[in-house]
Amino acid sequence: MASASRTLTRALRSATPIRASNSARLAIRAQPIRHHYQRRAYSTPTPEQPDKYEGNPSGMIWGAGALLAIAAGYGAYLSKPEWFGKDSKAKTAIITPKFDDYQRVYNEIAQRLEEKDDYDDGSYGPVLLRLAWHASGTYDAQTGTGGSNGATMRFAPEGDHGANAGLKAARDFLEPVKAANPWITYSDLWILAGVCAIQEMQGPKVPYRPGRSDRDVSFCTPDGRLPDASQGASHIRAIFGRMGFSDKEMVALSGAHALGRCHNDRSGFDGPWTFSPTTLTNDYYKLLLEEKWSYKKWNGPRQFEDVKTKSLMMLPTDMEIIKDKSFRSWAEKYARDNDLFFKDFSDSVCRLFELGVPFSVPEEQRWTFKSSFD
Ligand code: HEM
Repeated sequence: MASASRTLTRALRSATPIRASNSARLAIRAQPIRHHYQRRAYSTPTPEQPDKYEGNPSGMIWGAGALLAIAAGYGAYLSKPEWFGKDSKAKTAIITPKFDDYQRVYNEIAQRLEEKDDYDDGSYGPVLLRLAWHASGTYDAQTGTGGSNGATMRFAPEGDHGANAGLKAARDFLEPVKAANPWITYSDLWILAGVCAIQEMQGPKVPYRPGRSDRDVSFCTPDGRLPDASQGASHIRAIFGRMGFSDKEMVALSGAHALGRCHNDRSGFDGPWTFSPTTLTNDYYKLLLEEKWSYKKWNGPRQFEDVKTKSLMMLPTDMEIIKDKSFRSWAEKYARDNDLFFKDFSDSVCRLFELGVPFSVPEEQRWTFKSSFD
């Protein structure tokens, strides 16, 4: 730009001092080449015959041309900065998404949930919730590593952990939403999808804060941070205790198993926990406490089935919720009182989804999204 404006200044300087008569100028314009030579021959100034024409019309033409070129160049610079080695406008524009932007993303996820009803029991909701939980449940309070900040499950080491088998379906489900809203981070999107899934499956409102950033592969957590379904109460306490949860919260979170099912080709276990796997209720606790459960006779990992219908299942860790005295007291409360379950579930899930995130938005300013039922 600087050299272009220097050219313009020079051109204008040589074009300005026009003292020739109008007729001379017109003649020059009409026959530029001939007059050019004539003028050159004619214009050598002598003291007796001063130069009659000291102007530079071709300089003027060049000047006007340069002016036009610069104007066009500057216009291009403003509209297409990437041609000049600058970041494109889209990239440099600072977007500060607001509640409405996130609500729009929520609505897109909700709409996709409704449209894509040919999956599993008729909804991607359960697997979306599981994605959000497994993104968050890697948190280690002592080292501050893991948690929902980072979306590191996008990378092979973590995505390939046995516990995450099948979650590609949830990540792929969200890809078009991410493509349509590139400003949202994967980590904020996955958690927003978890919130949306809970609310769209008629669960409680779960408050949400944005602020998660995506991290690179070096932030992948080691395998083994998520619970092993074949273990007992001490394992549950060790895993959820590492994240900073109490017994009450562990039991409240387990109520998520009212939703979805186990897939033989993913975890090795098989079947749903309840008769309504796409609606969140306190049925998980009711069924645990009211039904009779026995070992399933099959060629698979140890799991339980309901004696009456043999169509429902419980994992060994689920059975610990009624075997352990402290856990059981909470399960009984939740079986009796769905509102209490919804309240404690919402509180614990909100906390789970925020593990390891350095928010700049304070807790009091969490958002609550409108669901399709509002
Ligand atoms: C001791 C703790 C837990 C254990 C051992 C456990 C284990 C499992 C297993 C083995 C599956 C079956 C996966 C498959 O085969 O597709 C599953 C599914 C599921 N889990 Fe958990 N889980 C635990 C806690 C949680 C928590 C805290 C949540 C959420 C707050 C949760 C939400 C779900 C959901 C929604 C599904 C169904 C996924 C689907 O239908 O695809 N789980 N869990």
